[in-house]
This record gives sequence, C-alpha cells and structure tokens, in this order.
Amino acid sequence: MNKTTPTYHWGPEADFLVIGSGVAGLRAAIELSQYGRVLIITKGSRRQSNSAYAQGGVAVALSDEDDVNLHFSDTIKAGHQLGREDAARVLVEEGPSRIQELIAWGTQFDKVDGKFAFAKEGAHSRNRVLRAQGDATGHEMIRVLLERAKKQDSIRWFDHHFTMDLLMVDGRCCGAIVVNETTGSLQVLSARAVIMTTGGAGQAFARTTNSPNATGDGFAMAYRAGAILEDMEFVQFHPTSLFLQSSPPFLLSETMRGEGGLLRNRKGELFMVGYHPAAELAPRDIVARAIWSEMAASRARHVYLDVTHLGNSFIKKRFPTIYQTCLRFDIDITEEWIPVAPSAHYFMGGIKAGIDGETIIPGLLAAGEAACNGVHGANRLASNSLLEGLVFGVRAAHSATTCSSTISAKDRQSVLSSLAVEPKRTLDDAEKLRNSLRRLMWDQVGLVRTGDSLGRALAKITAWEPQVLGSLQTRADLEVKNMMQVARCIIEAALWRENSLGAHYRSDFPGCEGSAWKIHSQIQCPESERLTPTPKLKIV
Ligand code: SIN
Repeated sequence: MNKTTPTYHWGPEADFLVIGSGVAGLRAAIELSQYGRVLIITKGSRRQSNSAYAQGGVAVALSDEDDVNLHFSDTIKAGHQLGREDAARVLVEEGPSRIQELIAWGTQFDKVDGKFAFAKEGAHSRNRVLRAQGDATGHEMIRVLLERAKKQDSIRWFDHHFTMDLLMVDGRCCGAIVVNETTGSLQVLSARAVIMTTGGAGQAFARTTNSPNATGDGFAMAYRAGAILEDMEFVQFHPTSLFLQSSPPFLLSETMRGEGGLLRNRKGELFMVGYHPAAELAPRDIVARAIWSEMAASRARHVYLDVTHLGNSFIKKRFPTIYQTCLRFDIDITEEWIPVAPSAHYFMGGIKAGIDGETIIPGLLAAGEAACNGVHGANRLASNSLLEGLVFGVRAAHSATTCSSTISAKDRQSVLSSLAVEPKRTLDDAEKLRNSLRRLMWDQVGLVRTGDSLGRALAKITAWEPQVLGSLQTRADLEVKNMMQVARCIIEAALWRENSLGAHYRSDFPGCEGSAWKIHSQIQCPESERLTPTPKLKIV
C-alpha cells in the first residue's frame, strides 16, 4: 500500500456538470447548452457508454397501429405494476416528440418501403421498436447526439476524467471532484447543478452485456453523498448473451426473437411454450428464468438461440453486427444454433429521482439508468431505456436550470484544504478484488437468490470492505470501491424483499404479486459514513 498526500486544484468554471456521456447525459447537455456553460465529464472515451452498446432499438408509439396508452399499459404490465404511473406517462407521451427531434437532427432509423420499420420485442402489444443499421441503434443515436453536442459552443468536455465524488457543501451538491486518468491530477469543479447520467452497474456481475464502464459510479457517489438508492434489488438479466469460453457475453438482441428466433434446450427442444403463452416473446424476466431452469434441469451452461430458419440474406441484413461478431468467434449464425445464457443487463433501481430528475439533494439531478424514477417498476419493458434517456435527460436539464448552488471565490481555498487531509492510498490488487466480487455477485446474487446466498455474499463483502476504505485515487481502485458499495446495496435490498417480483427472484420466497409488496426498497448511507463534509460554507 502506497501513501502520499494529494493536492487538489480548482478546475474550469461551469454552470452545469453532466457526468456521463450516454444518451441521457448528451441529451441533457444539449438542452442545458442554451442556459449556460456545460461541462461533460466522462471516464474513458466519450464513445464508451452503455447506450452505444444498445442493439435492438428504441420503443416509441409512433406507428399507425400504435398509441401512447398501449405503450403505457405495456410498460406498467412488464414492470409487474410496481412502476410509477406518472413516470410511465411522461415517458410514453413525451417519447414521440423526442424521437421526431432526433430524426430531425439526422438520426437514420431503418425504413422498409419508405416507412419506418417497427420491430417486435417481448411484452410489447404492438410492433413498436425503431432500429438503426439493423442492430446498431444506440451507436447511431449516440453519433447524432455527439455531433449535435459538438456544435454547441457552451459545451466543454472532460474526457478521460474519473469523477471521484460529488462536492457537498452544507448539504447541497455544488460540483464534483475528478481525477485525470492519465496524469493523476485532481481537480475540483464547481457548478450550479450536477446531473448524474452514469448508467448502471452491470460490471458488478461476472456475466454482463454492459460496457466495461458500467461500474455503478453514479450510484455509489450519490449514496456516499446522502441520496436515496431505490429498488436496487431489481437487476434485469438479459436472456440471451453469447456463451463461449473464448468470448465476453456479447448481447444477442431480443429483436432476434422478435423476428422469429427460437430458444432450444440442450436436447434441441423448444421450451418457452411451456413457460408462457407468449413463448419467446414473454417479458424478459420470465424468459431469463425459463432459460435458467432449463440449464439447471439439464446441467447445461447454456441453451441455444436458433435463427437459422430466418434465412442467410435476411440475417446478414437485419443483424449485421451480431452476424459479424459471432463469426469472429467462429459461429456462423445463419447455419448454427448460437449458445446463449443470461447476463446482467440493466438496473431498474438507482438514485431515487422524481420525474424532473430531482433527488433529495439540492443541486443533484439524475437521469437515465443511473436514476430510479420508478418508470420500469420491477422489470423494464424491452427498448424503453434509450427513450428514457432522451425524455428524462431533457427534464433533468430543465430542473438543473432552477438550481443555484455556487461557492464564493473566498471559500474555495477552504474547500481545497479540507479535501487534502487524507493521505492517498492504492489497493494491493484491484483486479483480483474486482474479479472476486463479480464472481461472488454472479454466483450468490444473480438470477435466482435465497436468503442464504445473499447472507453469504454480504459476509464476504463485509470482510472485503476494509480494503477499499480511505482515499483511493485511481480509476481502477475507485471502480472497485464503487462496485463494492453498490453490491452491498443490491444485497441489502434483495434481503429486505422477501418475495419474488419481476427481475428479483428468491427461491425461498417464490410467491409474488402480493399487494403488500408493491412498495419500493430504499437505502441511504448512514450519516456517519457519508462523505467527509467540506467546511460549513455559505452557499451564494
Ligand atoms: C436488446 O436489443 O435486446 C436490448 C435492448 C434493451 O435492452 O432494451
């Protein structure tokens, strides 16, 4: 363990900080650029977000045969009635104009015979999912948002900067503390408001479809600052990701089943009809658990996704990225069944926020996967997340304009000195701890949980936690600390919820749908463990 005392500097001036560069962050920043100076802080490159990984598409009630009420009821039903109706209404009603706007900005959604092509996905009562370049929808949306953001003079970037913590003064969020990933230099950034759009924490599990960036940094930072984390037990496991020893669990879009892809067990039997009337197009939580049961029954590590009957040219045109990626791993999906297994995919829970992104901390807003405004309930309807990022990114931006936390020039020195008290530490082996944690979460806190498995996980984490205490200052170390804190919150929420609902399944409490359980779990960091407060300064 190395120890040195860190030095902090005051960074560039901004009115608004946006942490994260996925759809929610970019859309929020573009909106905010009309109102002041915006700084987008992003770890790694600005292109590495979960949004950019999204294949299937974006759900929106824009087709002739659809309407927002149907989209609303599908969203609430897929969420097992736990979703907040006001948030779901906002999503489906504001979604169409957000998408029209994106089209006007240059997004090329796929068309058939000159009309937008709406695909089918699980639990949608209509064909409602727009896509781009077949299976690269997130990539296309991010391309357009990045181009748009680039044109706004008031937007500046802090790429390759890792946000270590929020800057909390007198109970308000007044900015953030960041470390430059290349030089290690530490900066304090102050702003009227901070919008957290850091996405989820799929990387807390050994198998995930998420980008390597999804380490729950926003959840952990907000938690340490005193925000409430809500519904953390609801982690969506995507039913179909590639299962090969040689490959990461690459996502195989639900739209493959929407186009007629079939799930087969080890013996080659179609099994979904035995689990749900909608078979392959049942809600995601049901398909993922059905796969899990088939795997357990046949002691197999995967099942198969069969698209071979869809035809060679259709597959190559409709799923070009998936086709090419599988081919790289020596699987020709036009001829072979694809080995698939579930993987952690999306967090329905997160930083508790209202429909305008507001949290309980003045000056802190949250949007996208980082936020939990209750729109998804216990299980997200497929392809609702890109829409969520657009709709709630804009709303959080509008809220941010009403915030006014700033630190006066004369108080800045005291902030800097209060930060530079704890000697800097580094972890002995961040990689090892990270891998052990991910394995533990997958084995004990995955698709099927019990009180015993959760208890075992909690005991392990309690034993590991002392290792991540103190002033860690590299991205690798801080990510492990954040993942560990998020893991504890998931486990505590999952222990508390002694029933099974949506994506949260406890085999010791398999019963579900009891109205007594239509409540939300909430976790807040004990006051004594929150961020060391900066001195009581006057906020002007
Ligand atoms: C998929 O294409 O299956 C992922 C889309 C989503 O998570 O909504």
